Amino acid sequence: MLKVVVMVSGGGTNLQAIIDAVDNGTIRNTEIIGVIANNEGAYALERAKKAGIPSFVVSPKQYADRAEFNDALLNKVKELNPDLVVLAGFLVKIPEAFVHEYNHRIINIHPSLIPSFCGTGFYGLHVHEAALEKGVKVTGATVHFVDEGMDTGEIILQKPVMVEKGDTPEVLQKRVMEQAEWKILPKAIDMIANNEL
Ligand code: GRF
Repeated sequence: MLKVVVMVSGGGTNLQAIIDAVDNGTIRNTEIIGVIANNEGAYALERAKKAGIPSFVVSPKQYADRAEFNDALLNKVKELNPDLVVLAGFLVKIPEAFVHEYNHRIINIHPSLIPSFCGTGFYGLHVHEAALEKGVKVTGATVHFVDEGMDTGEIILQKPVMVEKGDTPEVLQKRVMEQAEWKILPKAIDMIANNEL
């Protein structure tokens, strides 16, 4: 049984996709043992509570400086002792010590086809604004392992999504979530849980 901790910052629609996929058997041999948010207002925490999953807030506001926050974040994860850490809309860069401690055991969902529209500053709507600005006809989402860089780790899965005439960043974001993110993130977890990578 793969023990998974999901780290979140916002609405938690990717977390919800994982919860639903475990419930309906799309993700096999997996248990979500905890959800960690970096801010107490994250609606993702409500989703965890509704699903009966232990949830925790580790916020920079609770600590004197970044180093203390980083230590607290890693200590909370180690306390839960997962096999896999899933970043689902988590907007904090994972510190190097954390990456080393969980080498090749942290995955992230990014809302573009890496290496396009990724790296520092490319998160949430900014990604889709950049894709529309560039005028790409195809975008999509990527699941990748997390390394010391920003969106630079080994790619696991990608799924293309067509950009449509008149798309706004919000409309495109929703399509990328529905058609790509909410499918490939659960799929990647299932593959890892069943040694199918
Ligand atoms: C989304 O833009 C997603 O692509 C990115 O984080 C944002 C929030 O997603 N990974 P969620 O609704 O909190 O899962």
